[in-house]
Order: sequence, then C-alpha cells, then structure tokens
Amino acid sequence: MQRSIEAAEGAAMPSVQQGSPRTLEARQFRDVLGSFTTGVVVVTTLGEDGRPIGLTVNSFNSVSLDPPLILWSLALKSPSLAAFRQHAYFAINILAEDQEPLCRQFATPSSDKFANIRFDRGVTGVPVLHATAAYLECRAFARYPGGDHEIHVGEVMAVHDHGAAPLVFHRGSVRRLIQH
Ligand SMILES: Cc1cc2nc3c(=O)[nH]c(=O)nc-3n(C[C@H](O)[C@H](O)[C@H](O)COP(=O)(O)O)c2cc1C
Repeated sequence: MQRSIEAAEGAAMPSVQQGSPRTLEARQFRDVLGSFTTGVVVVTTLGEDGRPIGLTVNSFNSVSLDPPLILWSLALKSPSLAAFRQHAYFAINILAEDQEPLCRQFATPSSDKFANIRFDRGVTGVPVLHATAAYLECRAFARYPGGDHEIHVGEVMAVHDHGAAPLVFHRGSVRRLIQH
C-alpha cells in the first residue's frame, strides 16, 4: 500500500526537482531562495557591556497583527548570538535605497560595526539608525530552533515610518525599487 502512495505522489509532481533535505544541492537551494525578493534590515541590540550590536538581515518578516509580532533568523555561528539571547529588546532598521554602504558594513564581521554610523537610542534603549525607511522596536517574545539558525520572534513596542524608498535584495544583489 505504501509503495502505491509513493508512486502516485511521484507521478503527480513530475516537474518538481525532487530532493530530500539531505540531497538538495546547497547551491540550488540558495538560488531558489534568492529568487524571493526581500527588503534589507539591520537588527540592533545592546551587548552585556552596553555596546551597540548590529547585523544585516533579510530573513525579517511579519508574523501576527494582534499581538503585533515579527520574526527574523540569526545564524548560530554569529558572534552576535549571545547579545540577542541576553538583551530583552532589539530594533529592526529597514534600510532606505541609498543605504547600501550600511548593508555592507553590518554584514562584515568587525569589532566596531558602528564606526561612522549615525544612530540614537530608541524608547527601549536600543540603537536606531538615522535616515532609514522605517524602524520597529521590539521586545524579545520567543526563540525557536531553526537548523543552523535561531528564529527570533519580537513583540513590536514602537514603530517609526520615515516613508523613504527601501533597499531591495534579489538574487544576491541589492537593488532599488522601480514602480511600474
Ligand atoms: C543581504 C544580506 C542578508 C543577510 N541575512 C542574514 C540573516 O537573515 N541572518 C543572519 O544570521 N545573517 C544574515 N546575513 C549575514 C550577516 O549579516 C553577516 O554574517 C554578519 O557578519 C553577521 O554579523 P556578526 O558577525 O557581527 O554576528 C545577511 C547578509 C546580507 C548581505
């Protein structure tokens, strides 16, 4: 019985690239993910010593309206992991179309990622970057295992929308949005 179910499923999806999680080519997986266009954010928090921490992320997404929840995922190998696990608040800074240099700076490992970066403290005390498209300040709500990443869910405490056009990420490159 089990064999016929497998055969029927295989016949129903002939054009799908078959691949169990173990056999799926990493390159192919990344390429397919890259075909999904996202914005680019810098997630910021504070280290144990009060030092600003931040990294470039495109895994940001909305989760719930009531309560207002968002998520993003953080690589387990990231040096920033301890800070995001310890501090109760973080900010999602949605980059504007002219902030490609910030995208690069916060995606490059460094002990001083905030060098030459203009920012204030938000109402929750975490760094909020200047001249972004918008930002959301969040309280850590939940964390879940996600393979080689950890999924961070935040409850949104405050938002600020500057209305600037966003930076866009598609197939490994940052781009500007063009309206049809
Ligand atoms: C466009 C873009 C999107 C990224 N998205 C993520 C992400 O969702 N999660 C993540 O952990 N790293 C992501 N990265 C990689 C981190 O920004 C990069 O590894 C950074 O150095 C991590 O900071 P850290 O080394 O200070 O922890 C992304 C990089 C770029 C350029």
